[in-house]
Amino acid sequence: MITSTWTSALVAAAFVPSIVSAVPHGGHSPGKGHGIAADDFVSVDGFKLKDRQGTVYLTGLNYWSCMNLAADDHVGGNYSRFITELDQMKAHGVNHLRIMAASEGAPTHQPFRMYPALMESPGNYNEAIFVGLDRCLNEMSKRGMRATMTLANEWQWSGGFGQYVSWATNNSQIPYPSSWNLTANPQRSEPGTGWGNYTVEGVDAESYGNFTAYANRFYTIPKCQEWYHAHISKILNRVNTVNGRKYKEDATVMTWQLANEPQPAVVPTEYLGPYSLELPAAPEDVIIPWVKNSSAYIKSLAPKQLVNVGFEGKQGKWYFQAVHNFSTVDYGTTHCWVQNWGVYDMLNSSATNLEAAKSFATAFVANSSEWSREIGKPVFLEEFGMARNNWENSGKEYPYLSSAGTSNKDEYFTTIIGATMNDFKSEIGTYVGSCPWAYGGLYRPEIQHANAFGEVWAGDPPHEAPGWYDLYDTDEAMNIVHRQQQQIAQYLSKGH
Ligand SMILES: *[C@@H]1O[C@H](CO)[C@@H](O)[C@H](O)[C@H]1NC(C)=O
Ligand SMILES: *[C@@H]1O[C@H](CO)[C@@H](O)[C@H](O)[C@H]1NC(C)=O
Ligand SMILES: *[C@@H]1O[C@H](CO)[C@@H](O)[C@H](O)[C@H]1NC(C)=O
Ligand SMILES: *[C@@H]1O[C@H](CO)[C@@H](O)[C@H](O)[C@H]1NC(C)=O
Ligand SMILES: *[C@@H]1O[C@H](CO)[C@@H](O)[C@H](O)[C@H]1NC(C)=O
Ligand SMILES: *[C@@H]1O[C@H](CO)[C@@H](O)[C@H](O)[C@H]1NC(C)=O
Ligand SMILES: *[C@@H]1O[C@H](CO)[C@@H](O)[C@H](O)[C@H]1NC(C)=O
Ligand SMILES: *[C@@H]1O[C@H](CO)[C@@H](O)[C@H](O)[C@H]1NC(C)=O
Ligand SMILES: *[C@@H]1O[C@H](CO)[C@@H](O)[C@H](O)[C@H]1NC(C)=O
Repeated sequence: MITSTWTSALVAAAFVPSIVSAVPHGGHSPGKGHGIAADDFVSVDGFKLKDRQGTVYLTGLNYWSCMNLAADDHVGGNYSRFITELDQMKAHGVNHLRIMAASEGAPTHQPFRMYPALMESPGNYNEAIFVGLDRCLNEMSKRGMRATMTLANEWQWSGGFGQYVSWATNNSQIPYPSSWNLTANPQRSEPGTGWGNYTVEGVDAESYGNFTAYANRFYTIPKCQEWYHAHISKILNRVNTVNGRKYKEDATVMTWQLANEPQPAVVPTEYLGPYSLELPAAPEDVIIPWVKNSSAYIKSLAPKQLVNVGFEGKQGKWYFQAVHNFSTVDYGTTHCWVQNWGVYDMLNSSATNLEAAKSFATAFVANSSEWSREIGKPVFLEEFGMARNNWENSGKEYPYLSSAGTSNKDEYFTTIIGATMNDFKSEIGTYVGSCPWAYGGLYRPEIQHANAFGEVWAGDPPHEAPGWYDLYDTDEAMNIVHRQQQQIAQYLSKGH
């Protein structure tokens, strides 16, 4: 997820395609208790995704912490929670999860990160976390869920580009922007159960612009690209220790994603559009050859699987088309963040505030659908979210308590998921599914307890306020997700 206005590109990762279960077309019929056959790859057919059963609509969820949750207790995992949550998602029709397939550690402990990291230093992997990733794919496969596997991250919460740059520059200090700090006040008396604050004290927080300028050196430092390619090769050639499938030959992996929200590297002199999000054309931007090179590299190793970029689309039509218009990029992605982009205020209960969010999202889906159509590709809404009615928490000890209602969020989800489904069904539509950010499942701030690695595994990543964008197991949002899957399954069963 993100932070404040355009600069705060979501620092989150979202993913989740889902399957439409057991219907003649479009569904996945899991068949004999098994979901995804190792060779039932998803392919792009015009503006639709297809597998052996027919058209695939992605009923997705972001579940970025999967590999850590699925790992053993001694590395901070919670296997029983992982299994319970997968079952919950499956019961709500989810057929796709967007998960991290990368995280980078550092020589010294860094704040705001997923720990332990999958890659502790260049080329050194934590096998216990890798086994967690194996378990994710195996258990998803059994439940008929496919994966988007995110291979790097613009943002600091998994290490990401900034960590690669630091490694390549003598472990230089990463200029972190203000981030959530679990050890800052307000705290409860029991250690590890408090909530923290954004850190503006305690560290010298830099601007988001300074942080991305540092992180984006990743695109052009040869050492960073060498390590990134080595990571890609390592992951794609991994043989799953649970089911023996090689990742690059397992159809459970639908998509390899270059990174979560890679940002343009050209520093714009002006911003365009109604919310100052859009950037002017910049053909010289190094992100463009980076996408071309990385996507071609992945395709050369894993020709049966799909590749996408992980782009948000907030930068407007020119950038959207520039990064997606390569033969080695199979479909586009969008992320829609009304609060982070200054369209919506989670503390404002007025109807006008909610209406602004709904109209923005509807227009964003329509616009990006058309951009994608012009370059002949499908597009996946792989991140969006809204906070609870947090004005109801005013005066309480923490602004993001789960006790706040969700009436705005529910109406917003109905609108944006509805826009995605309508686009999918339309003659000229290009959307292939939706994927909210992010499944928090059993997590609640009220019972938060940081584990031995300082992690709470909310749906919000470690640098953001836990409870901000979570979808809990009992939330109405999960029923909205489910109805989406049911409506699409019915639509597809009529022969569409
Ligand atoms: C695992 O998750 C459950 C549900 O959130 C929680 O009650 C339990 O304490 C967790 N176990 C560990 C070892 O963290
Ligand atoms: C690398 O960093 C170390 C410790 O900060 C410093 O002593 C050393 O001079 C640096 N080396 C280079 C080449 O910058
Ligand atoms: C945490 O937030 C509260 C209320 O917003 C503020 O009064 C306090 O100074 C903050 N603490 C830290 C450590 O930033
Ligand atoms: C977190 O907040 C505490 C208390 O304000 C502060 O001592 C510490 O330096 C902060 N940590 C980071 C990484 O900002
Ligand atoms: C951003 O970096 C510039 C140049 O290093 C520095 O002068 C400026 O203070 C930084 N801004 C913030 C907000 O950290
Ligand atoms: C990507 O760039 C590297 C050099 O940075 C080059 O060696 C490699 O051939 C390129 N790969 C592709 C697939 O373009
Ligand atoms: C996309 O690429 C094709 C050729 O591969 C080109 O003809 C077309 O103009 C490009 N579209 C955009 C919007 O760049
Ligand atoms: C709430 O939002 C409405 C509509 O955007 C705006 O007119 C009003 O001033 C806002 N109220 C507060 C307290 O920010
Ligand atoms: C959608 O496109 C229209 C026409 O270019 C533009 O006026 C509007 O601001 C765009 N809205 C969003 C949310 O992108």
